[in-house]
Amino acid sequence: MNILIIGTGYVGTTTGLIFCEMGHKVTGLDLDDQKIQALKTGKLHFFEPGLEELLTKHIQTHQLTFTKDTETAIKENDQIFICVGTPQGSDGSADLTFVKNVAKSIGQHINKYKVIVTKSTVPVGTAELVTNVIQENQTAPIPFDVVSNPEFLREGSALQDALNPDRIVIGTTSETARTIMRELYKDFHCPIVETHPKASEMIKYAANSFLALKISYINELARVCDNLAINVKDVSNGIGLDHRINPHFLKAGMGYGGSCFPKDVNALIQTAKELGNPLSILEAVVQVNAEQPVYFIEKIKQALGNDLKNKTIAVLGLSFKANTDDIRESPSLVLIDKLLEEQATIKTHDPVVKMGAPHQFPTIEETAAGADALVICTDWDDYKNLDWAGLKSLMNQPYIMDGRNMLDKEKVERLGFRYLGIANY
Ligand code: UDX
Repeated sequence: MNILIIGTGYVGTTTGLIFCEMGHKVTGLDLDDQKIQALKTGKLHFFEPGLEELLTKHIQTHQLTFTKDTETAIKENDQIFICVGTPQGSDGSADLTFVKNVAKSIGQHINKYKVIVTKSTVPVGTAELVTNVIQENQTAPIPFDVVSNPEFLREGSALQDALNPDRIVIGTTSETARTIMRELYKDFHCPIVETHPKASEMIKYAANSFLALKISYINELARVCDNLAINVKDVSNGIGLDHRINPHFLKAGMGYGGSCFPKDVNALIQTAKELGNPLSILEAVVQVNAEQPVYFIEKIKQALGNDLKNKTIAVLGLSFKANTDDIRESPSLVLIDKLLEEQATIKTHDPVVKMGAPHQFPTIEETAAGADALVICTDWDDYKNLDWAGLKSLMNQPYIMDGRNMLDKEKVERLGFRYLGIANY
């Protein structure tokens, strides 16, 4: 099949590469010239393990090409995947400007039957909206179908997730489109959920919100565990072994961040509010998540004598999770802001994110030098097995504040560190 991917971010690039792996011919379209030029030479404009190798491979086999030419790209491809961003608008709902622009272009240039697929996370009713915009911009009544086919990949493991999905969701009312979508995904060995576009759109929001809910649940529970000196990891393990709960997304930490959970939970809350059915559970999820970094800072403050003025804090990890350079809605940024408010001196480090001077240092040793505390904000593997004794000798005070509960507490305590995690005993 000839597939057009519109929007070359995480979702678009990964989706395109997966289809190349399945033997299809893929064109990547983006309006950003810099991105297209970089992609043409096999360079990604974001950090994602494993993706660049596959990009180079499929550029060389000519299975994958990139273009800025919207008209030709739409005319020459029969399956069009909309993978553009749907950022959070000022009222919390998803901003569909990019999706609407794409639909308008498709309407203007459609020359034969096409299946148009929304892959981006889009609010319920977007398939209908896209259909209307295409129709309004058509000069002749050429038939087409719009399908909702949300993507569930995670940053940092995008390739693995997209190659091995737990399920594929296909939302369409058209038998023709359904047959084409089944053919497209025929080599995937997972359940396929076929449903109405509106249900498909809701599945994506409901899934992300449920995962966010699990995180906020364990984070709030962790605060109670902290009061009672209970190890929250044992609690996560103990409840996660019940297959009805499962062990995933029960890691207590500094709260969820990233480009999806915060935006998607807010968008679903907004949709529900507009419908007069507020989702109070999700409102609490957001509130708990906002409180979590603040809770951690209070613990740090208490440990350091309630005054952070003249204290130097070394922040390890800036990205919202490991294996990505994405800092959108990262809890580390909330923490840094609060520490600056408290007039602490900040030094930061991240293996991939580059924020530069004055706060960022190239090595962990330089970051730790003179610090009163090391605060781990991202669970990068790089921070697991450090030369702790060496770091301790560089620091002003031997405190480790582990916002990800990732270190072996006893091990670092044996080396003379004072360790503080999130209900990690
Ligand atoms: C998420 C969804 O998992 C994915 O299906 C969807 O397509 C996009 O949104 P992503 O944002 O890339 O993916 O990362 P994810 O691994 O889900 O983590 C999200 C946030 O939750 C991170 O900040 C992470 O650190 C945090 N998290 C995750 C926890 O705090 N505890 C956990 O147990 C799991």
